[in-house]
Amino acid sequence: MSLQTTQTNIPSNMIDLGIGQPSPTLLPLDLMQRAANHRLQQGDPSLLAYGAEQGDGYFRLALAKFLTQGYGIPVDVDHLFVTSGASQALDLICTLCAKPGDIVFVEEPSYFLALRIFADHGLRVVGLPVDAEGLDISVLAEKLTEYQPKFLYTVPTYHNPSSLTLSAERRRQLVALSEKHDFFIVADEVYQLLGFDATLPPLINYDQSGTVLSIGSFSKILAPGLRLGWIQGQPRVLEPFITCGLLDSGGGLNPFTSGIVRSVLELDLLNEYVSKLKTVYRDRSAALTSALRQHLSETAVFDEPNGGFFVWLKFSETIDVGALLPELIQHHVRVQPGVKFSAHGDLRNCARLCFAYYDSELLEEGVKRLAQVVTDRS
Ligand SMILES: Cc1ncc(COP(=O)(O)O)c(C=O)c1O
Repeated sequence: MSLQTTQTNIPSNMIDLGIGQPSPTLLPLDLMQRAANHRLQQGDPSLLAYGAEQGDGYFRLALAKFLTQGYGIPVDVDHLFVTSGASQALDLICTLCAKPGDIVFVEEPSYFLALRIFADHGLRVVGLPVDAEGLDISVLAEKLTEYQPKFLYTVPTYHNPSSLTLSAERRRQLVALSEKHDFFIVADEVYQLLGFDATLPPLINYDQSGTVLSIGSFSKILAPGLRLGWIQGQPRVLEPFITCGLLDSGGGLNPFTSGIVRSVLELDLLNEYVSKLKTVYRDRSAALTSALRQHLSETAVFDEPNGGFFVWLKFSETIDVGALLPELIQHHVRVQPGVKFSAHGDLRNCARLCFAYYDSELLEEGVKRLAQVVTDRS
């Protein structure tokens, strides 16, 4: 068991269960080398020119084919707009589709760094409750009588942090409400292709009238350092993105990397890699949840993940995970405190744990350390 890590911000004896990314050893250097060689050997200097605003057509074609297979539903090349990752897509959506003071609905809990992006844009965030089927649609319907949100941000599949998946019926109801009340849905679908078993179709599949913008990213299925993602939506909805000032000045986003990832797709290297990731993550998730059942079943509850990266732990209301952090760090373990994922400073008794970064042995050791601190408090 090695505690060494290439992450400079994780001390070598620390198990940081809060970190939300794949282990460096899972990142596919060989695959990228093959794809880069393949692309550079084409001898096409346009790879180094400004890119087409919507994203290179050949890359989008290869991506549309990959998504059609992965989602199990047809994805149209004209419905894809290339971005520099999901975070940048979110930032651009805020820039182009909202103004400071606008209301945004989010799930409670929600992806904490999306909350930061909304704060950068001066948006007012309202958190909505979730249950085992995801976002509570009846509360949403009620809140729509009180607020007119600009958009609703959701992670419908293998949620970060809760790991929950929005049920098919609720997907239909959510889209119907967005049509009726004239707001759009930003569906952050970055974990869609990381299911351990069969997965519901992405939320964009339920879109009839162009109220859904679906965000995807290569960060979760290939490598976060590529900074490559996409927005999927109907062409008239994508139009403001393709014609915005940022792209008018700088051209399409991330054309060089898109060219290399085009080769990853055209050489059919990605499906096998994603299958391998899913096997590794399924095993790690099983190891983490089994350790949680063994060491923390008296003090915390959680839903078993069916995909994605995370387990969301709920302790009794008397435990404030943020306040426990200094002691956890003394025991060489860290988690993400739940309060970070709340739009309203709540969820203090919760914590997000990630199973993508460490192997099974270290996950179990991390849970033991966590249990030692929490059990002392209970
Ligand atoms: C739900 C969600 N959205 C977006 C991101 C960031 O993705 P990207 O690296 O493509 O910006 C993450 C990464 O943790 C995530 O979990």
